[in-house]
Amino acid sequence: MTAILEINDLKKVYEGGFEALKGVTLSIERGEILALLGPNGAGKTTLISTICGISTSSSGSVFVDGHCIEKDFRVTRSKIGLVPQEINLEPFETVMNTVRFSRGLFGKPRNDAYLEKLLRQLSLWEKRGNRIMELSGGMKRRVLIAKALSHEPSVLFLDEPTAGVDVELRKDMWNIVAELKATGVTIILTTHYIEEAEAIADRIGVISKGELLLVEEKSALMKRLGQKQLQIELQEPVTALPEALQTENIALSGDGSTLTYTYDTQAKRTGITKLLADLAAAGLQLRDLQTEQSSLEDIFVGLVQEKST
Ligand SMILES: Nc1ncnc2c1ncn2[C@@H]1O[C@H](COP(=O)(O)OP(=O)(O)OP(=O)(O)O)[C@@H](O)[C@H]1O
Ligand SMILES: [Mg+2]
Repeated sequence: MTAILEINDLKKVYEGGFEALKGVTLSIERGEILALLGPNGAGKTTLISTICGISTSSSGSVFVDGHCIEKDFRVTRSKIGLVPQEINLEPFETVMNTVRFSRGLFGKPRNDAYLEKLLRQLSLWEKRGNRIMELSGGMKRRVLIAKALSHEPSVLFLDEPTAGVDVELRKDMWNIVAELKATGVTIILTTHYIEEAEAIADRIGVISKGELLLVEEKSALMKRLGQKQLQIELQEPVTALPEALQTENIALSGDGSTLTYTYDTQAKRTGITKLLADLAAAGLQLRDLQTEQSSLEDIFVGLVQEKST
């Protein structure tokens, strides 16, 4: 089976010469959920806009379900639903008319039964007759999703669907995404939140400064994120590690006063009990202990450094 989305060496140089995408290559399978994580200005919105044809690429190619976005723009655009980062709804229009109009724009025949199902799924059916200006922020976000799905696309892009929304709505949004996946829709979403990617994605891509630094199965990435470090401050500095403690996951600071032990939080045993016993056996006294969890930030920084060395 061919991938639903094939992106090949995609580059985008904005007018004025800024290179926002530096050759992105990515293949997305039918029915998967891919989360694109990246800091502000990484190029997430640019990537999505280019795939959706809102912005033109400078070079490279994008195929949606086997169709080239340049040669078959109408076909590819009709297969895509886009929930933009900014809310861009007509305030005086009703919810129902908003989604009906959007469907019409794609040249799809009227199908109120489908739209009813969609609005019910998004808990908007009760509000179908309300004007957009009468809705809460969270409801407006859901209308954006309904609008993006109004023409029954097979790929849905969600550009930061939960930026600035409360915990409740974020969970609602995750449920909606899971339900959509169950109906066979392929979903690509961007986010700044690692817990969001963790909650819903099958694969996670990390993008920084216009480059896709990695795309990995969530489980593999979470394992890397699951590394924790235990810092052990010694009563008295040592010049070298005792032999029993010379393993690859233990490091001694330059001044000999602190040991850093790296372990996997997902492993059955952390090894800390043994470590403390070994320390005691070697006659080392502890002054203080503290743990640090590696964050997405560390992973970003680590990846970016790896790239530049
Ligand atoms: N129309 C434009 N003209 C020139 N530069 C642009 C334009 N749009 C975006 N950029 C630049 O391209 C880079 C990537 O922007 P983009 O909006 O794709 O980032 P993003 O990853 O979506 O960030 P955020 O998380 O803040 O939404 C930024 O440096 C931005 O300033
Ligand atoms: Mg953006």
